[in-house]
Amino acid sequence: MASCPIAVIVGSLRRESFNRRFATALARLAPADFSFTQVRIDDLPLYNQDDDAQQAEPVRRLKAEIARARGLLFVTPEYNRSVPGVLKNAIDHASRPYGQSAWTGKPAGVVGVSVGAIGTAVAQQHLRGMLAYLDVPTLGQPECFIRMKEGLFDADGGIGADSRDFLQGWMDRYVAWVKAHAG
Ligand SMILES: Cc1cc2nc3c(=O)[nH]c(=O)nc-3n(C[C@H](O)[C@H](O)[C@H](O)COP(=O)(O)O)c2cc1C
Repeated sequence: MASCPIAVIVGSLRRESFNRRFATALARLAPADFSFTQVRIDDLPLYNQDDDAQQAEPVRRLKAEIARARGLLFVTPEYNRSVPGVLKNAIDHASRPYGQSAWTGKPAGVVGVSVGAIGTAVAQQHLRGMLAYLDVPTLGQPECFIRMKEGLFDADGGIGADSRDFLQGWMDRYVAWVKAHAG
C-alpha cells in the first residue's frame, strides 16, 4: 500500500465532468508513494439529522474511506458562486454524528475547474470556510483556479504542456503539506 493514500472528493456528478478529468490528470503528477482514490458521493442520501444514530451504508463507507486516507483532495466546480449541493451533502454526512467527524485533522488541498472567468474562486472560498470549521488543515498557497480551455488536458488524459509547470509546483507543495500534517 502507498504510504500516503489520498481520498479525492470531486464535487460534480456529471459523466463528462472536467473536474473529474482534472482530478485524474493531477494525480499523475504525484510521487509514487502517493495514491489517489476518488470516493463515491453520488449514492449518498440527502443529509437528515434524524439518521445520525443509524447512518446509511454509503455514508459509513464514505467515512471509512476518509478515515483510511492520510490526506484529502477536494476538486470542485462552482455552482451559483458556491460549492455544488452534492459536495456540501457529502461534507455534512461525514461530519456527523456530532463529535465523530471523519474530516478532523486530515490535511487537504482545494482545486477546481470552471468554464467561467473567475474559475471556482468563490466556491473554493466557501469550501475553505467549511474546512476551517471542520478542523481540516488546508494548503493556502498556491491557489489553484483552473479555467477549462483547449489544451488543459493532453491527448493521453494528462495535464497539457501549458499548465504542467504550475500544476507540478502545486502538487509538490501539496505533497509537502500532507507529509507535514498527516498524523
Ligand atoms: C447549476 C450550475 C451553476 C453554475 N454556476 C457557476 C458559477 O457560479 N461559476 C462558474 O464559474 N461556473 C458555473 N457553472 C458552470 C460550470 O463551471 C460548468 O458547468 C463546469 O463544467 C462544471 O464542472 P464539471 O465539468 O466538473 O461538471 C455552473 C453550472 C451549473 C450546472
